[in-house]
Amino acid sequence: MGDQATPPAPELAAMAINDGPCLKHPFSDRAPVRSIVCRPDGGAGLAGQRVRAGGWVKTGREQGKGSFAFLEVNDGSCPANLQVIVDGGVADLSTLVQTGTCVSVEGLLKVPPEGTKQKIELRVEKVLHVGLTDPASYPIPKTKLSLEFLRDHIHLRPRTNTISAVARIRNALAFATHSFFQEHGFLYVHTPIITTSDCEGAGEMFQATTLISEAEKLDKELILNPPPTEADIEAAKRDVGEKSSFVAQLKAAKATKEDISASVADLKKVKENLSRVEERAKLKPGIPKKDGKIDYGQDFFGRQAFLTVSGQLQVETYACAVSSVYTFGPTFRAEHSHTSRHLAEFWMVEPEIAFADLQDDMNCAEAYVKYMCQWLLNKCFDDMELMAKLYDKGCIDRLRMVSSTPFERITYTEAVQLLEEAVRGGKEFEKNVEWGIDLASEHERYLTEDIFKKPVIVYNYPKGIKAFYMRLNDDSKTVAAMDILVPKVGELIGGSQREERYEVIQQRIVEMGLPLEPYEWYLDLRRYGTVKHCGFGLGFERMILFATGIDNIRDVIPFPRYPGRADL
Ligand code: 4AD
Ligand code: MG
Repeated sequence: MGDQATPPAPELAAMAINDGPCLKHPFSDRAPVRSIVCRPDGGAGLAGQRVRAGGWVKTGREQGKGSFAFLEVNDGSCPANLQVIVDGGVADLSTLVQTGTCVSVEGLLKVPPEGTKQKIELRVEKVLHVGLTDPASYPIPKTKLSLEFLRDHIHLRPRTNTISAVARIRNALAFATHSFFQEHGFLYVHTPIITTSDCEGAGEMFQATTLISEAEKLDKELILNPPPTEADIEAAKRDVGEKSSFVAQLKAAKATKEDISASVADLKKVKENLSRVEERAKLKPGIPKKDGKIDYGQDFFGRQAFLTVSGQLQVETYACAVSSVYTFGPTFRAEHSHTSRHLAEFWMVEPEIAFADLQDDMNCAEAYVKYMCQWLLNKCFDDMELMAKLYDKGCIDRLRMVSSTPFERITYTEAVQLLEEAVRGGKEFEKNVEWGIDLASEHERYLTEDIFKKPVIVYNYPKGIKAFYMRLNDDSKTVAAMDILVPKVGELIGGSQREERYEVIQQRIVEMGLPLEPYEWYLDLRRYGTVKHCGFGLGFERMILFATGIDNIRDVIPFPRYPGRADL
């Protein structure tokens, strides 16, 4: 007897809701919209199934003189909406049709009449939940809203098509990142967010301190409980004097043991009071100072600490022990850059590879970027179509091109020559081009967008414009650094082979005017068992800008932080 002949168990027969193929979400009480409408047949094959669905109304309209309503419901599982039809007899339609309303409904999936765009619709039999929205005050109406406007409603903007699509693309790229590095045998290492080392040596760090809040607390406390006066201290001292002479008198008079013990206990109490009063008298309002400078010895960590600008230095300690590693986390830079490419808090992916040189570094970075592009084509095509429609019609072709075309590789010197040629040919840049300059965004974009029209890896930069840890080349003028420049964004990746020679790196630190002491642990990696190694950092938000074609980096991170703004 085959399984088909077995009658369903009574508890299974009762599971009539959402029990179609893969319909019910395993941990919530509804079928994701994606599982209904994102099938190759657009959901048509599900006709006749009974489902429960939930989401937020994008648009709603009453029809047939209020006898029924059409709702476009979206739950964020995909860009497409589920069309839902509710009869007037089932619910108060006027409350359901407002944009932003949350609904949970149950009913039958049906094929809509000929000529309708949708391949399936849900005919509601029961409304299980309505989360009302007052259209008079809801800030996200169904009209087209600019991304700038949405930045003022950061908590509600995930309800929009663009921001939810960006969230799915961002999620996919994070998954792709782990997948790429895990497939290639890299270990994910969590580097600290609070650090006492400045990786880039650029002094753009946010400080992590409790000195200010402690000082504020103390200031308030001293207002409520003013510190003891000279007279209070004198009085406490007098108490101690009186009680000690009383003890002496009792001892001299050979008083009973009990009497002496009682007076000694009294003496102890007034002594404790005196030391308390003397301690409080020392309290000074404001931030503690020593020799005219802030006394970080009294700060939370007993020293000055910061939010990290990069996990690189710390992740190197693991690379020089377990060989291939990566870190992926938030990084912080207190740059006052008001550009569409900079954030004060952004996420960075930083692999670090032992027994590897600059060529390996470039190969790894190129393979990783290609992998992410292919991943989006495979897993987020519908979201990418939305990006192509709304922001950048070339974005899908760009992903295809990047995933299949080798990146151009040129030295910094060649890059400068190309830019100088362009200037001779009439191209105007704001910043003058000459060997030794830090390439500006306009130069980077000209190389990748106009000259090569594809990603370009520029390598071997002048040592003067790069960080101390980059390996000095034999010419003693350049370092084994590489930046990957991509259309739309400019610099996407910055990396290098690391200086593994103890004497050379020590000298570089000194040359750059940095103190040696905080880097002693880093130098130990060169003192003990040094190894050739390299790594890079990819700005995660810049990757999303590049993929989607969205213009401003503030719109591709859920909670953007930039000068003057840190909402929520
Ligand atoms: O070039 P950067 O400064 O390199 C480093 O931090 C190295 N320690 C990385 C390493 O070798 N492990 O930063 C790396 C990337 C840049 O190429 C850029 O994409 C991004 O991080 N980035 C920013 N993204 C958004 N906002 C900012 N303020 C950024 N600064 C850098
Ligand atoms: Mg850089």
